[in-house]
Amino acid sequence: MELDYDKWADVYDLVYSYVKDDIKFFVEESKACSGEILELGSGTGRVTIPVANAGCKITGIDFSPKMISLAREKASDLFPDPDNLNFIQQDMRDFDLHKKFSKILIPFRGFQSLLSVQDQELTLRSVKNNLDSNGKLIFSVFVPDPLMLADGYIPFSHFRDIKDPISGENISLWHEGEIDSFNQIMHVRLSAKNITPGRKVVKDFSREFQIRYSFRWEIFHLLSSCGFEVEEIYGDFSYSSFNEESTEMVWVAKLFGDS
Ligand SMILES: C[S@@+](CC[C@H](N)C(=O)[O-])C[C@H]1O[C@@H](n2cnc3c(N)ncnc32)[C@H](O)[C@@H]1O
Repeated sequence: MELDYDKWADVYDLVYSYVKDDIKFFVEESKACSGEILELGSGTGRVTIPVANAGCKITGIDFSPKMISLAREKASDLFPDPDNLNFIQQDMRDFDLHKKFSKILIPFRGFQSLLSVQDQELTLRSVKNNLDSNGKLIFSVFVPDPLMLADGYIPFSHFRDIKDPISGENISLWHEGEIDSFNQIMHVRLSAKNITPGRKVVKDFSREFQIRYSFRWEIFHLLSSCGFEVEEIYGDFSYSSFNEESTEMVWVAKLFGDS
């Protein structure tokens, strides 16, 4: 089943307002090269807009029309130079922008939105066709939690509290879900509630997502079989080496045989 990301557009920036540490990393990586940048699954432009604001030329592609229009709307408020920023509605599994990019980024679970090995392979084939011969593919995925996988489900539980960046309200996020260990897919329902002291609910919504988890050597061999050579795996966005304590895998890969 394909997930409708349009349903996420209105709440995405609020729910993921706590995800910040990857933005500086992707901005630094983009500034470190002279060519153009491509982001796959650019969503609301959470990463795309700061990269453009840092003076880099970036294109974001996303297959959700609502995500694309929200990103364009945000960019018109936040970004002074439209020549450096372009959003295109496109499926990352099948694209050809007829140019070669210096870096192709897939931040925050964009790669994990690909729910099958076939979708991952199709995406990597498109990446290969649009990556400069000495360019880099950079994406991050979470390390699957063995205890959660052993349980086979996520009980209804408190996920975290966030502060609405606009209203300043504290919002409580709750989650629950099922884990399909055969297909390596988590199906999660995330709900948000904010009950004010007067016991009035001021924010109350829920959204669902599906995400595919992958293991370290699985990704390593997937990249190899699709013509990529792994250059680095970091365990966070501060360039720490990946180790057994890491909860994140940040992959940096280049085309096989290029220096
Ligand atoms: C978890 S969000 C990440 C958004 C953004 N990169 C960020 O860091 O906030 C995943 C995004 O990928 C998009 N997406 C999922 N599958 C896609 C596909 N096959 N082609 C293009 N976009 C896709 C979704 O619409 C969504 O905006």
